[in-house]
Amino acid sequence: MAIIFEEDSREFHIYNGEISYIIQILENQTLGNLYFGKRIQHKCDFGYLLQGGHRPLAVYNKINEYFLSPQYTKLEFPTYGTGDFRYPMISVTQKNGSKITNFEYDSHDIFKGKKKLLGLPATYVESEDEATTLEIVMVDPVLSLKCILSYTIFEWCPAITRSILVENHGNEEVVIDRLLSASVDLPDSNYELITLSGAWARERHVKRRKIEQGIQGVYSMRGTSSSEHNPFLAIARKETTEMQGEVYGFSLVYSGNHLEQVEVDTHDMTRISIGIHPDTFEWALSPEESFQTPEAVLVYSDSGLNKMSQIYHKLYRTRLVRGVWREKERPILINNWEVTEMNFTEDHILRMATIAKELGVELFVLDDGWFGNRNDDKTSLGDWYVQNFNKLPNNISGLSKKIEKIGLKFGIWIEPEMVNMDSDLYRLHPDWIISVPNRMPSPSRNQYILDFTRSEVVDYIFELLDGVFTEANVSYVKWDMNRYMTECYSASAVPRDQGKVFHKYVLGVYDLYERLISKHPSILFESCSSGGARFDPGILFYAPQTWTSDNTDAIERLKIQYGTSFVYPLSSMGAHISRSPNLQMGRTTPIETRGNVAIFGAFGFELDLSLLNTSEIEIIRDQIKKVKQHRKLIINGTFYRLESPFTDDRASWIVVSEDRTKALAGYYQILKMSNGYYKRLALQGLDPKKQYSVNGNSDRCFYGDELMYVGLLFDEKDLCESGGDFTSELFYFEQIES
Ligand code: DGJ
Repeated sequence: MAIIFEEDSREFHIYNGEISYIIQILENQTLGNLYFGKRIQHKCDFGYLLQGGHRPLAVYNKINEYFLSPQYTKLEFPTYGTGDFRYPMISVTQKNGSKITNFEYDSHDIFKGKKKLLGLPATYVESEDEATTLEIVMVDPVLSLKCILSYTIFEWCPAITRSILVENHGNEEVVIDRLLSASVDLPDSNYELITLSGAWARERHVKRRKIEQGIQGVYSMRGTSSSEHNPFLAIARKETTEMQGEVYGFSLVYSGNHLEQVEVDTHDMTRISIGIHPDTFEWALSPEESFQTPEAVLVYSDSGLNKMSQIYHKLYRTRLVRGVWREKERPILINNWEVTEMNFTEDHILRMATIAKELGVELFVLDDGWFGNRNDDKTSLGDWYVQNFNKLPNNISGLSKKIEKIGLKFGIWIEPEMVNMDSDLYRLHPDWIISVPNRMPSPSRNQYILDFTRSEVVDYIFELLDGVFTEANVSYVKWDMNRYMTECYSASAVPRDQGKVFHKYVLGVYDLYERLISKHPSILFESCSSGGARFDPGILFYAPQTWTSDNTDAIERLKIQYGTSFVYPLSSMGAHISRSPNLQMGRTTPIETRGNVAIFGAFGFELDLSLLNTSEIEIIRDQIKKVKQHRKLIINGTFYRLESPFTDDRASWIVVSEDRTKALAGYYQILKMSNGYYKRLALQGLDPKKQYSVNGNSDRCFYGDELMYVGLLFDEKDLCESGGDFTSELFYFEQIES
């Protein structure tokens, strides 16, 4: 068992080979947090680590001769109003108006394996031996409110998942105002905060800053996880780099409003809080009802940021993503969006598909504009059937058959959560949108959000989409979501339940996903939200890949993909070659560089390949060959960030196979340096004692130790177009017999 309970000291030690997490039941029956970090040997009593107790002038809880000042104690389940003046995990309004709760230890259970979270995405195990779970039951005796705190430790990686189930066993309704998924108190504040923040077309840029006394953090109150702030934060020691030093990661498996906060008190204790954003949440809980929080995934690394990321990658890739596509090589796709937007003809699509097939592409994706009478973004969302037969004379199934005849699989774009006022659906059900009575709903891209808190709305959309997927033999779906939520109110909910709408909406989205993937298990789903505005772990449970960003410029993608890789595996990042000059940036980049960036993701094209010249066509042919040769390595390998585009005019990374026999590195020169330095790329992850050939060249072989400790030497002429701005190179390493 990787979780020990010591009866005498009343301590839980949750551990595996790499980490320890220690909780103590205190004398007043609340929980203290003794330790979280690198594995320490088990002892019967770690009580001295609490560093709590009573200080002069502080508020205290007194039990016989025992004094405890919550404000000076590292607490495991902080509540509101009894002397811990920091932000709590839970706050509950009661019938008498009080918000005070006092949860006391009641019982616990330790078992092998991990339970599912009802209606919510979560990491899972395939065999009970993979993980051990501790459930601690805390009860507020006045309210008969029960909180079951759940901790799962995976045997094979330094990660702990946490969530809470609240059950109302009293006879009074209560309103949960705040219920986070995890809160951790650490004994000092010598950390820097790392977040993944940005905006449309520059998602998940790495932001790092020193933490100070007070509050700092990130959040979303936009209805989705958002491109502004990813549901993730890390705190790292000042000296922590990609390869060295301590870092704690906190990631939320959720796609709605979220909060990730660091609070440093004036005694330099650090509290990290993560969960559903309390300011847009209010959950009335009747007697006998329960509420389940999303899951938070806590990772500890003592070997830098890369190790933290590698743990998230492996856990999310193998124990969050599900279904047939989990370990399968992803098809090379071509998408018509950046070529035609909504103005396509069947002939043009077939021409694009024919040349794509000839070059080795495997899947054609028809983007926005195929349904209803949609020729622009003012109309037809909600009408998931073809009305515009000028565009698709043979309906969607006719086009799909023709694409399949060419030899490609067929995929489509949908935006199931949305409706335009100019649509059959809106004319039929104007009350199905999220909006407040007597107030104008705010449009965004001329569209409104369907009220997915209502099961009849989800049922209606399910029926339509199920029909299209079946009729058109759909192999791939790009599920888009192009606006944030405003006027959040459901016409079907009573006033008491309006605070539930944001969360119930997310549950509705998950429900639709679950039903569609159960009915169509072989479809590959790719999530999208104006690019990467819903790139979160919650969605990965349903859609194994996400469109990383609408920005397809290779140089911008260096930062976006570099930042995204802090948490998310390469297999989850949609990355395509698009035209040059680039649509979003107007930047001209060599086609090799566009390919060398996109290859480190779920690869595809947003390009009319028939417009390329002969030499570009040959480069593309070669790139497709490379993708096919390396995609297994890219999906399953261990990824290391080497040089950051946030700090240098270059970037580099490498992915190494688990057995260390193969590796693929990408080096990217952003702006060329005048009279530049010698280039030496120090690699990671190779076997120091084994020899590797470089790019299949038997005259260019080096030991792993040389490549890692000295570096691979190369010069300008190695770079495509011989080394100007935005040039790059891929280096493929293969172990050879020494
Ligand atoms: C936003 C997506 O990010 C794009 O790739 C494209 O699918 C458009 N929506 C279509 O409306």
